[in-house]
Amino acid sequence: MNSFWQRLNKPFTVLAPMANVTDWAFRQAVIEAGASAGLSVDRPDVFFTEFISADGICAIGREKFKSELYFTENERPIVAQFFGANPEHMFKCAQLAQELGFDGIDINMGCPDKSVEKQGGGAALMKNHELAARVIKETIRGAEKLPVSVKTRLGYIKVDHDWFRHLLDTDIVALIIHGRTRKEMSKVPARWDEIGEIVELARGSGKLIIGNGDVKNMEDVYEKAKKYNLDGIMVGRGIFQNPWFFSDREIDDPKERINLLLKHLDNFEKLWGPNKNFNVMKRFIKIYINGWPGAKDLRSKLMTTKNKNQAVDFISKGGVV
Ligand SMILES: Cc1cc2nc3c(=O)[nH]c(=O)nc-3n(C[C@H](O)[C@H](O)[C@H](O)COP(=O)(O)O)c2cc1C
Repeated sequence: MNSFWQRLNKPFTVLAPMANVTDWAFRQAVIEAGASAGLSVDRPDVFFTEFISADGICAIGREKFKSELYFTENERPIVAQFFGANPEHMFKCAQLAQELGFDGIDINMGCPDKSVEKQGGGAALMKNHELAARVIKETIRGAEKLPVSVKTRLGYIKVDHDWFRHLLDTDIVALIIHGRTRKEMSKVPARWDEIGEIVELARGSGKLIIGNGDVKNMEDVYEKAKKYNLDGIMVGRGIFQNPWFFSDREIDDPKERINLLLKHLDNFEKLWGPNKNFNVMKRFIKIYINGWPGAKDLRSKLMTTKNKNQAVDFISKGGVV
């Protein structure tokens, strides 16, 4: 199969799916941060949506998930990530992703969240290889020409090569490995040596292997890709440390940081309107409003705001823009 995954230059970068983080509003901020670097846009090679419940879509309809599923052309290639353990629902969501014009579909098989596992999805699928195979098969059937990938962890309780043999035996195109087990949650540093072992296991399988966990900056991206022979690297929380991660710059100019927040606020409102708690933006306020004298004061004020207008008001009163 010749999908966008195979056409990427290696090592490629992927912005990790993160619930309540990687919606269209944030993905646009990441693109904006790269665009201000110069003429070319330095951005992740691949975007993912945050995870979306396949059961939810099938139970209450796609309309309720329109913000989660929203994307624009400048984000391509963009992959829709779904979680769920009902093969029929995954089939339907794969068809939907195709209809909406996504470039790929990813199945979440690593999420340790109790509510996700309770439905048999996320990390729970690592314990049920037969069901995982059916979920993959039906997703691929629904996806038709779109490539399907799986994002998973090293194993449930311990590193589980059987799990990976099983995944490598399916028709997925790419495999993303978060270098921790389910049991380890996020409590230990990602185990890149173990990711390297799975790369060896996958040799000759034709699957693209992408490593994930604790990647700090672009230098780290290149080092890890080379050391562990990876096709690509997925970056999650590194972007919280530095929204300019993908253009390999550290920006401490308050004006530039505030402008990015303002654009993000604007897009957040456009995307969600009144349908998302404004507190979701507080994580980003902490990220952008950081690193200069006076940032702490402005940040504390912004943390008390309840909507975009209040936030913009504080910023303009602070005389920063
Ligand atoms: C706030 C947050 C939300 C996350 N949501 C998802 C998700 O929706 N789907 C998923 O596969 N992983 C999710 N993850 C896991 C990340 O994609 C990634 O695997 C993990 O953070 C390790 O990578 P990092 O060390 O680069 O952050 C989430 C992580 C965080 C911190």
